[in-house]
Amino acid sequence: MKKTTKLLAMTLAMVMTACTLTACGGGSSKGNTITFGTNAEFPPFEYVTSNGVIGEYDGIDMAIAKQLAESNGMTAAVENMEFDSLLVALQNGQIDAVIAGMTATDERKETVDFSTPYYTATQVMIVKEDSDIAAATDMADKKICVIQGYTGEICVQDMGYTYEAFKKGTEAVMELVNGKCDVVVIDSATAQKYVGDNEGLKIVEDPSAFESEEYAIAVQKGNTELLDKINKSIDKMLADGTINELAVKYTEEATAE
Ligand code: ARG
Repeated sequence: MKKTTKLLAMTLAMVMTACTLTACGGGSSKGNTITFGTNAEFPPFEYVTSNGVIGEYDGIDMAIAKQLAESNGMTAAVENMEFDSLLVALQNGQIDAVIAGMTATDERKETVDFSTPYYTATQVMIVKEDSDIAAATDMADKKICVIQGYTGEICVQDMGYTYEAFKKGTEAVMELVNGKCDVVVIDSATAQKYVGDNEGLKIVEDPSAFESEEYAIAVQKGNTELLDKINKSIDKMLADGTINELAVKYTEEATAE
C-alpha cells in the first residue's frame, strides 16, 4: 500500500471506530442511545477502570446514567473529554447530556438547562496533616492549587487569591504531596477519595466560606424532551433511595481501595 493510501485507510478506520463508540450521526437522543459527556477524572463520580458500568467508565454518575437510560428503554454511551470542553460539546450536539459531578451554577444556566439536582456537595481544602490552615482566609499567603474550570477555581478567584490551576485533580494532589503547594481546593467527596489514597493529608472544611453546590445533569437549552425523561428518572432514583445507595456504595469503595 502506498503511504498516503495507508494513511487514508487508517484515518477511515479510526473515524469508523469513533462513530461506533460515540454513536455519531445520532448525536441526539432520538435514536436508542443517550450519549453522556463526562470527564472521568473525578472519583467517586466518574473514573476509568478495567470493568466499569458503562464500558471502562465507573462511578456514581456512570451508574446513574446507565439506569437513567435503561429506565427509558435506551442505552447509555459515554464520551470522555476535558471538563472545560463539556458544555461546548453539548451545545455543538456532539453529546446529548453532561453528567460530570457538574455544579448547576447561575453562569452555566445561561448556556444550558439543568436537571433536578441529584447530589449536594461543597468545596473543601485538602492540606498536609501538619498544616496550620484552619479556615479559607488562612490560604491568603499560601500556595493554592485548583483544577481548571471547576467551581473550586471560581471560589478561589472570587476570594481574590492567586493560585495555580491543573488539568486533573490527581495532578494538584501530587503537587501537595510533593510539598510544591500548600492547599488544594476541590469538591468534598472527591477530596475524601484523594485523602484516602494518599498518606499524610487531611481535609479542612469552612462552611462559612464555601456555599453548598448542587450537582445536576445538563442538556442543551430547550431540549425539554430529554430533560423530562432525565428528571422523571432522577426523581424516581431520589425517591426510592437508588442514588443514596450508589453514593454510599461508591464512597465506601473509594475509601476501601
Ligand atoms: N463540581 C465542580 C464543578 O462543577 C467540579 C466537577 C468536576 N467534574 C469532573 N467530572 N471532572 O465545576
